[in-house]
Amino acid sequence: MADMKAFEKECEAFFRPLWPGEDKILVFGEGKSDSPDIMLIGEAPGEQETLKRRPFVGKAGKNLDEFLALTGFKREELFVSNVVKIRPTAIGSTGRVRNRAPSKEEIALFLPFLLKEISLVQPRALVTLGNVPLKALMGPKATVGELHGRWFETEGGYRLFSLYHPAAIIYRRELRQVYEQDVMTLRDSLTFETQK
Ligand code: URA
Repeated sequence: MADMKAFEKECEAFFRPLWPGEDKILVFGEGKSDSPDIMLIGEAPGEQETLKRRPFVGKAGKNLDEFLALTGFKREELFVSNVVKIRPTAIGSTGRVRNRAPSKEEIALFLPFLLKEISLVQPRALVTLGNVPLKALMGPKATVGELHGRWFETEGGYRLFSLYHPAAIIYRRELRQVYEQDVMTLRDSLTFETQK
């Protein structure tokens, strides 16, 4: 049984001293932490995720619900996490705090912890959402535009399926059909294997 609490403590002990005096909130993965069929890996938490200390609960949570509806999985059957476990922020032109993409440095800092998390959870398959988790696990040359909808093997020997980040579909509507087709491919290959 994966000891996720010990893992979270280890992360806190490593990251807390990096931001002295700052109240950075680490948002950890959640769900079935004991050999789930899928470990879904996003980019980083946003505002709502940080407030609720849970991944994929804001707008991204709605995207996740769509993914679940298409695959027939229940949220509690998956393990859902992110590469970077703090909310990357910037100050927008209006002076408000906004989300930004995680930096290379942030990704590099969190990657060993993601790899440890994966080895604790032992999922049957990793499903990456967008370029950030795909590049983190498959190398900088990997792009979701080229690799979406297909299976790969990571250096650590995990099977990985690459999907667009559902948020990308909001900005690029032409991707919706592609995303849905990819999710079906994922569902069919997992269902087929379960029946074998
Ligand atoms: N987007 C992500 O990639 N992860 C979250 O947890 C929320 C939004």
